[in-house]
Amino acid sequence: MAGRIPQHFIDELIARTDIVEVIGQRVPLKKKGREYAACCPFHSEKTPSFYVSPAKQFYHCFGCGAHGTAIGFLMEYDNLEFVEAVEELARMAGVEVPREQASDRGGAARSAPEHDLQPLRDLMQAAASFYQEQLRHSPQAVEYLRQRGLSGEIARDYGLGHAPDDWDALLQHLQAPEEQLVQAGLAIRNERGRVYDRFRNRIMFPIRNRRGQVIGFGGRVLGDGEPKYLNSPETPLFHKGRELYGLYEARQFNRRLDRLLVVEGYMDVIALAQHGIRNAVATLGTATTPEHLQVLFRTVSQLVFCFDGDRAGREAAWKALAVTLPFMQDGFEVGFLFLPEGEDPDSLVRAEGQAAFERRLDQATGISEYLIAELTRRHNVHTQAGRTHLATDAMALIGPMPRGLLRTALVEEVARLTHLRPEQLEGGQGTRIAAVDRRQQLRITPVRLALHALLHEPALADDDMPTDWLHTLDRPGIDLLLELIETIRREPHISPAVLLERYRGTEAGRHLQRIAAWQPPGFEGAAVARMYQDAMDTLRRQHEEQRLEALLHKADTEGLSEAEKRELRGLLERR
Ligand code: GTP
Ligand code: MN
Repeated sequence: MAGRIPQHFIDELIARTDIVEVIGQRVPLKKKGREYAACCPFHSEKTPSFYVSPAKQFYHCFGCGAHGTAIGFLMEYDNLEFVEAVEELARMAGVEVPREQASDRGGAARSAPEHDLQPLRDLMQAAASFYQEQLRHSPQAVEYLRQRGLSGEIARDYGLGHAPDDWDALLQHLQAPEEQLVQAGLAIRNERGRVYDRFRNRIMFPIRNRRGQVIGFGGRVLGDGEPKYLNSPETPLFHKGRELYGLYEARQFNRRLDRLLVVEGYMDVIALAQHGIRNAVATLGTATTPEHLQVLFRTVSQLVFCFDGDRAGREAAWKALAVTLPFMQDGFEVGFLFLPEGEDPDSLVRAEGQAAFERRLDQATGISEYLIAELTRRHNVHTQAGRTHLATDAMALIGPMPRGLLRTALVEEVARLTHLRPEQLEGGQGTRIAAVDRRQQLRITPVRLALHALLHEPALADDDMPTDWLHTLDRPGIDLLLELIETIRREPHISPAVLLERYRGTEAGRHLQRIAAWQPPGFEGAAVARMYQDAMDTLRRQHEEQRLEALLHKADTEGLSEAEKRELRGLLERR
């Protein structure tokens, strides 16, 4: 296993990377004064509030609070792991990523992901190629796909394959260490220690991440049999609750997607593609999660959920609604499509074709209509008790929504239905910050203001101010502040991005990240130099107060030395 990437390499890489170039390759940036602006790629908006600062090597969105360095951007935007993001930047800079010897792993503050995922990724790719190749040698599998109406072209686009009916065909072919095959979820070790292929005699659906790398598989029996589907287990590469089957393929087909269709099954995605509807994705046998929605709304601003018309489908829709509402900023559109009983998207699109299916999509029930219709179906608005229950249920769902026109309209509609005033409904609710909004409401403290200022302009700490007194000031975060000041004094030219990246993966790093992204209310547009000065002045006053109290207490108890008496007089005079 490769050792970790040395911190000094990461420092240098960030120092030589231009975040404007990294982001500019992915998002069209416009120069605006000393910074670059764009519509935020992390939330949907019409006017740009996303800024990239060449001086700080940061990006920041004033709309949703997204904030970070070039590494952070690649992790978010390209869905990369930390090591992958570093590798990508190194590739752009034309340098190799060095690795430390396994033995000299020191007690460095940061804990980057330790394991190197490349061998697993290679293994998954090799397995996918093998299954694909095997499909050509299995007339039975080819016949199954043909009979389900799939063409060779679609099978190729989705990389469909076949796992041979054998205990160790893949094992024999890959010739990789058993441990790795088990870790990749491609093989299983039984109680007696024997290792064998997980997928046998199944149609194989490779699951690809945003970059097209194979991270897992779904395998379907040919015809009837139990279990119908077998999925890869959770592995270091594969997290079911986050991945969407077909998203990579949809993006390949259309780089500027505006709408995604969320269906239940692998075969639904593929049958829709076969009929020209290339923008369907499927959750992998799980309910829709907030992680899914984050990925979906990062890609498009319009979603249509497809559900079976039966009771299970209605229950699933109601759950999807609850997960979706906290993401519903103005500008997002979500529809709910209920299919006729007994049909799924696969059977329906085959029966009625692309145009008819697309008409259904266009006529999907809007999220507000669906919410209100379902609430009034569940509760009797003609009784006081029914209206009360409706109000409670409604506000539990609407409460977590971000502020906006949609939320206001929904509250007004619920108010009308329940004969209450909107303020009565919102009262006590308090508008929660939407999940998609990453801005943290931090209480303003001088330590945080000083940290915020230094994270934006490290050079501020490069002054002659003595810091000995800071060592004895008792305030949360003081140690971190001191550490930052000392680092900056040792390395006066350190950039904000390098400073922040040093702490990645640590508790302090998460705190600093929040503070860097924070927009302290009341300080909008304030000069950070001024902010830093004021914060340090306040801290010094607090220190004097603390010292004064301590001396007064000591005077009452043990008595003071001559030096302490002088100090006390000085402090009292200054007050
Ligand atoms: P077909 O029956 O071939 O049309 O497949 P489908 O994709 O329409 O599957 P279905 O609607 O029955 O199920 C929807 C999704 O649930 C599947 O795509 C799988 O992700 C998951 N699923 C279904 N059956 C099983 C199973 O037996 N085991 C597991 N792990 N997942 C399943
Ligand atoms: Mn089906």
